[in-house]
Amino acid sequence: MNLVLLGPPGAGKGTQAHYLERDFGLKQLSTGDMLRAAIASGSEIGKQVKATMDAGKLVPDAVIIAMLQERIAQPDCKGGFILDGFPRSLTQAEALDKMLAARGLSLDAVIEIRVDDQFLVERITGRFTCGKCGAGYHDRFKPTRQAGVCDACGGKDFVRRADDNAETVRARLQVYHSQTAPLLPYYRAKGRLRTVDGAGEMDMVYRQISGVVKALPGG
Ligand code: AP5
Repeated sequence: MNLVLLGPPGAGKGTQAHYLERDFGLKQLSTGDMLRAAIASGSEIGKQVKATMDAGKLVPDAVIIAMLQERIAQPDCKGGFILDGFPRSLTQAEALDKMLAARGLSLDAVIEIRVDDQFLVERITGRFTCGKCGAGYHDRFKPTRQAGVCDACGGKDFVRRADDNAETVRARLQVYHSQTAPLLPYYRAKGRLRTVDGAGEMDMVYRQISGVVKALPGG
C-alpha cells in the first residue's frame, strides 16, 4: 500500500506517519528529513538547499523529484510507503504519477490532515526532537516524561529545527496555501483524496487515519 499524507506544516504528518509505520509495516519517507540529512552531511545538495529551507520556501522540484525517485527504488520500500511532505506542487504530483506507473505502482490514498492555521504556529514552535534517536516531542502537547530526558533512549541532548520559528512558519503556511493546496482538487478529481480532522488530540487524529487505511483494499 502506498499513501500520501498531505497537510500544512505542523498538521501532524510526521507524527501520524510514525504510527502508520508501526501498525501497518509501511515505510515513512519524509522529504524534509532527507533534506535535513543532506544538510547535516555537508553534501553538495545540502549546501544548495539550506538557505531555501531556512526561508521556508520549497526547494526546486527537480532536486526533490530526483531524490524521491532514488529513494523509492530502495528495497525497504517494497512493502509500501507513506510519503510525508511529498508531493508539494503539481509538478511533483505529476512526476510522482509517472515514477509510480514506471514501477507498476499507484497511490492507494492521499490523506489530508486538515488543521486551521491558527493552531499551527504553537504546534511548530513547541516542537523538539531527541538529538540521539530522533524521537519527537512538544513543549506542551507531548513533553518528555522526565524533564530533559528522552523517553525512548534516555538521551539528554535535544534539537529544534532552524525553520521552526514563528516568522518562518508564516512563510511556510503561505507556501502551503499557494503551491501545495492545489493538490487537493487534483487528488479529489482522481478519487484518491480522504480528509481527516487534524485539530484534535494525536490519538483521535490517528483513529480517523487508521480507519481510512483499514477501509482501503489490503488495509
Ligand atoms: P518538512 O520537514 O516536510 O516540514 P513541514 O511540511 O513544514 O511539516 P512539519 O515537519 O513542520 O510538520 P508535520 O506535519 O510533520 O508535523 P509534526 O508531526 O512534526 O519540510 C521542511 C522544508 O523542507 C520545507 O519548508 C521545504 O523547504 C523543504 N521540503 C520538504 N519537502 C519538500 C518538497 N516535496 N518540495 C520542496 N521542498 C520540500 O507535528 C508538529 C508538532 O505538533 C510536534 O511537536 C507534534 O508533537 C505536535 N503535534 C502533532 N500532532 C498534534 C496534535 N494532534 N495535537 C497537538 N500537537 C500535535
